[in-house]
Amino acid sequence: MINELSRLEDEALQEVVDATTKKELETVRVTYLGKKGPITEVLRGMGKLSAEERPVVGQKANEVRARIQEAIESKQQRLEEEELEQKLAEERIDVTLPGQPLPRGGKHPLTSVVEEVEDIFIGMGFEVTEGPEVEQDYYNFEKLNLPPDHPARDMQDSFYVSQDLLLRTQTSPVQARTMEKKDGKGPVKIVCPGKVYRRDEDDATHSHQFMQIEGLYVDRNVRMSDLKGVLDTFVKKYFGEEREIRLRPSFFPFTEPSVEVDVTCGLCGGKGCRVCKHTGWIEVLGAGMVHPSVLEMSGFDPEEYSGFAFGMGVERFAMLKYGIDDIRHFYTNDTRFLSQFKRA
Ligand code: DAH
Repeated sequence: MINELSRLEDEALQEVVDATTKKELETVRVTYLGKKGPITEVLRGMGKLSAEERPVVGQKANEVRARIQEAIESKQQRLEEEELEQKLAEERIDVTLPGQPLPRGGKHPLTSVVEEVEDIFIGMGFEVTEGPEVEQDYYNFEKLNLPPDHPARDMQDSFYVSQDLLLRTQTSPVQARTMEKKDGKGPVKIVCPGKVYRRDEDDATHSHQFMQIEGLYVDRNVRMSDLKGVLDTFVKKYFGEEREIRLRPSFFPFTEPSVEVDVTCGLCGGKGCRVCKHTGWIEVLGAGMVHPSVLEMSGFDPEEYSGFAFGMGVERFAMLKYGIDDIRHFYTNDTRFLSQFKRA
């Protein structure tokens, strides 16, 4: 009996050594230590042994079982360690490999310009206001002193949605909308950025959709010199301290007098070059003193209040600042163009 147990032990330990997987090891365990295994069998047959033999065989059987058990457990641990090491080796990450680039988006240059212009005017006490892009003829034209059939309507070819609705051709209607809400009481000091639409053929300097920023300041005693001071400050902040402006007489139905505002050329410094067509000046915006009829139509008493207004093309300001020669670049979504405007 004792010898049989020793033989079983040797055999089992050898099989533990030979086992190369956890599955094989489990088979060894079931074979030798399972309920139907030979050792259990021996223990079960103890009743047939003599009183002297019983404790000796019993002890031996328990010892054998404990040693096999121990061998299996330590082998199990070794196999698990090996498995883990193998897995770590297989899944090793080479941190020196170059990563996949994740391109980051950036602000559209027109957004940046609008924000920059807004900031400058906010610094001078203006508020930012917006209005609808699908606008009533009434606000886009009539309230700005452009009654139906007024010849100056031809200055802006329009996309009509219906008889009375159109895609706004300018941001000026926001002037009328804002004043109307004020119940005839100033001050009104706003800038209004937004998209506008005109029935133009697209080319290097025209786009059927573009952006404007409108400005309006209405209060008691607002004078032309205030307009000049505000625009001079703005131009110096936006283009550079060395820039000068000049006002030339012009015509807009909603302002009287009206002016065209020029800024000294940034390329030649005013001496004259290809960019400024050898004049030293570049036209950048339209402006003027708000027409008394426009004030009156929006509920302001022109005897008490006066104001100035101006309107600028955002693309033009961006093109001049960044040396862009074609307005269509802003709308064709070419990332080679757009990515140049990412700010750090
Ligand atoms: N709305 C004009 C345009 O689109 C620009 C403009 C000129 C706006 C003079 C004004 C202004 O407010 O006073 O051509």
